[in-house]
Amino acid sequence: MSFPVQRPRRLRRTPGIRALVRETSVDPGDFVYPLFINETLTAPRPIGTMPGVSQITVEGAVLEAKELKSLGIGATILFGLPKTKDDRGTSAYDPNGPVPRAIAAMKDAVPELVIITDVCVDEYTDHGHCGILRPMRGSRDGELEVDNDATLEVLTKAAIAHARAGADVIAPSDMMDGRVGALRRGLDEAGFTDLPILSYAVKYASAFYGPFREAAECAPKFGDRAGYQMDPANSREAIKEARLDLEEGADMLMVKPALPYLDIIRQVKDAFDVPVGAYNVSGEYAMIKAAAAAGMIDEARAVRELLTSIKRAGADFIVTYHAKDAAKQL
Ligand code: PBG
Repeated sequence: MSFPVQRPRRLRRTPGIRALVRETSVDPGDFVYPLFINETLTAPRPIGTMPGVSQITVEGAVLEAKELKSLGIGATILFGLPKTKDDRGTSAYDPNGPVPRAIAAMKDAVPELVIITDVCVDEYTDHGHCGILRPMRGSRDGELEVDNDATLEVLTKAAIAHARAGADVIAPSDMMDGRVGALRRGLDEAGFTDLPILSYAVKYASAFYGPFREAAECAPKFGDRAGYQMDPANSREAIKEARLDLEEGADMLMVKPALPYLDIIRQVKDAFDVPVGAYNVSGEYAMIKAAAAAGMIDEARAVRELLTSIKRAGADFIVTYHAKDAAKQL
């Protein structure tokens, strides 16, 4: 028996045929654009490590909201840079802090924009860790460690402050155990039973957060985050983290970073029946920008390709600093 010559190129011949058989699409409606609200500023401050991204004022957030809407981008995620920091992250739940003020102003101007808030204390603690510290058990030389359960109280207060200001989705990124359950209980008791939680369930201890730590001024003053963020070598643990967060009441899951963890996005997507987001983080963005500035790659094509790969891996939406540029090119 002889087979006809197989010719997959038949379906690549014209742009029209390629469009017809394309399996994955990327749309501005899939993007979430991060904003850094700094209440000490009076004008935008460019972030050196992230060309094209700036810290902005509360008023600036309103302009961004309007721009996102005009580009068809449906959502933003807010990070706050407060006037004051202390060792307990008190300003994280100040109702007049940068995030609650920005939410109120943006909701007034563009009510349909989905506002997600990052809930974590690292931007609000003077030591830069994602939790409240206590002396490390067993340490003789005064080392400190993150106190999981003390941190949950601060996170819950922060989430409620964001909810009261009008946030649409609460996204805890701290990686404390039990935080989704704690936030769910706190939000329910405060009357926000219908407010969804997007859990950064699978967050790795990654070198690719480097530029963000300048953006959000939250680099840890000592040590690292390996005691609470995940080991890049682990994938079964990703499924476990995701399952625990769903059991505690998470409505959506996020995998972070995106590109070095496309396999994890796929596994989480296949294992659970909830929407899965991916965070294309600051270091991933900075690499593209640096290579493009050096004339080494075609930025627009590279960005389209990488966003497509994240969708193809199974992400329903992508948090990305490329959102505005990509929306203009799509
Ligand atoms: C913690 C947080 C981080 C990022 C988002 N939320 C930094 C960290 O864990 O050190 C990183 C995002 C990025 O790199 O773009 N609040």
